[in-house]
Amino acid sequence: MSFDLVLFGGTGDLAWRKLMPALFQAFRHGTLPKEGRIIGVARDDLGDEQYRALIRERFAQVDDAKQPSPQEFEQFAQLLHFVRMDLSKPEDFRRLKETLESRGADVVVMYLAVGPSLFTQACEQIGAAGLNRPNVRLVLEKPLGHDLASNRAINEAVRRVFAEKQIFRIDHYLGKPSVQNLFALRFGNSLFEPLWRRETIANIQITIAEDLGVEKRGAFYDTTGALRDMVQNHALQLLCALGMEPPINAHADAIRDEKLKVLRSLKAWTPTDLAQHVVRGQYAAGVVNGEQVPGYREEPGVDPQSNTETFVALRAEIANWRWAGVPFYIRTGKRMAARNACIVVNFRPAPHAIFNAPPGAANKLVINLQPRDGLQLHLLAQGQENRRNTQALAPAHLDLDFDKRFGSERVGAYERLLLDVIDGRLNLFVRSDEQEEAWRWVEPILEYWANDDNGPRPYAAGTWGPSASSAMIARDGYSWPEEL
Ligand code: BG6
Repeated sequence: MSFDLVLFGGTGDLAWRKLMPALFQAFRHGTLPKEGRIIGVARDDLGDEQYRALIRERFAQVDDAKQPSPQEFEQFAQLLHFVRMDLSKPEDFRRLKETLESRGADVVVMYLAVGPSLFTQACEQIGAAGLNRPNVRLVLEKPLGHDLASNRAINEAVRRVFAEKQIFRIDHYLGKPSVQNLFALRFGNSLFEPLWRRETIANIQITIAEDLGVEKRGAFYDTTGALRDMVQNHALQLLCALGMEPPINAHADAIRDEKLKVLRSLKAWTPTDLAQHVVRGQYAAGVVNGEQVPGYREEPGVDPQSNTETFVALRAEIANWRWAGVPFYIRTGKRMAARNACIVVNFRPAPHAIFNAPPGAANKLVINLQPRDGLQLHLLAQGQENRRNTQALAPAHLDLDFDKRFGSERVGAYERLLLDVIDGRLNLFVRSDEQEEAWRWVEPILEYWANDDNGPRPYAAGTWGPSASSAMIARDGYSWPEEL
């Protein structure tokens, strides 16, 4: 099979930080079809050789790219080409069309690694130039808009040119092996399914903590915030994977239909919920991994008076038969104590206690997403630590480390997703109705904050967020996991 991958924004950050290294890994592992061209598109005045040199130079700056040897890069570079284009000029799209038709690849992927303000224009030009052939797949990066209306406008513009089955909306969390394991855990095994419901589960806690700050993206982040950046997409996708019904098969629409039902069942916000069950925070100066770091308002590109949240904690509820009354807590933030994403499923305590057991220590399943990828089943056991009292139980856990079991060199998120686009597999991509439903649910929070003069609560960088986040969950009688 032959492919042409047209990378709009071919010299931008996403292209060289994530996409090129991922394509290189696929090339190195022999999973990228051999007959391929990767065509960078941007306004820069570059030829193929200059583009290759630029990508080579940028590769060296990516910390986690498994660096190619000069020979490997030389081979990979043969796939790279460059077309100078201005997205507002129809003649430039006609030139791109000639480049693509000169080869007639089986599959053409158009990856819009550009700001969302350019999505509509790019799609219109693609359509006008007749580039929207049935063998073309369009990839859209988040953010797809900043609220429901703008998201809809983009989706409508894109759908005027492409059929839904040609549109690949990326949420890179779905490409992570650990997130795919979540689907495998629930739908490849029957062990947990009978327990996966309100009768047995007390609450579920999703944490996506980052130790990084806003890096060089201060200006972008300041108009975005954690709710739009992480909750509307990544965290809600995790919540869907946890809460959805078993799909009838593993096809994209079967999975997406079930995720959509979860999003539609999310309990609507009441004024009391908004006041009590949502906490926004913003990091102040502090110490992260032993290093003093500035507060959010001191970051380059950020308004010194900014009220943008860098932390969100909230309580959601899926109002259906399986989950009614079970809180799903979500917590995410920048400049927290550690980089850690995990899910804790807390089971209800034994209904009648015949042993002496430390409260809260067991009866839970911890799903580690990153940096570790694995599962821990926390149980109570007869540890015999107390030789005279067999009634005293001690916590113990079963520990499954997927990196040890399968090796830590597993396919990275972008590598997996790019290969899926080339192969035409939509399972790990988000449908427009899912996205719109997620926006509909977060929008009341944005509106509430816009009218709330209190602003975000400060937390010192290097901590687990503002104390109001622990207070919110404590009101329900629970606490966030301590041992992250
Ligand atoms: C991106 C957000 O979608 O996800 C970033 O825009 C965030 O702000 C990143 O840092 C987190 O991804 P990961 O894979 O590092 O957990």
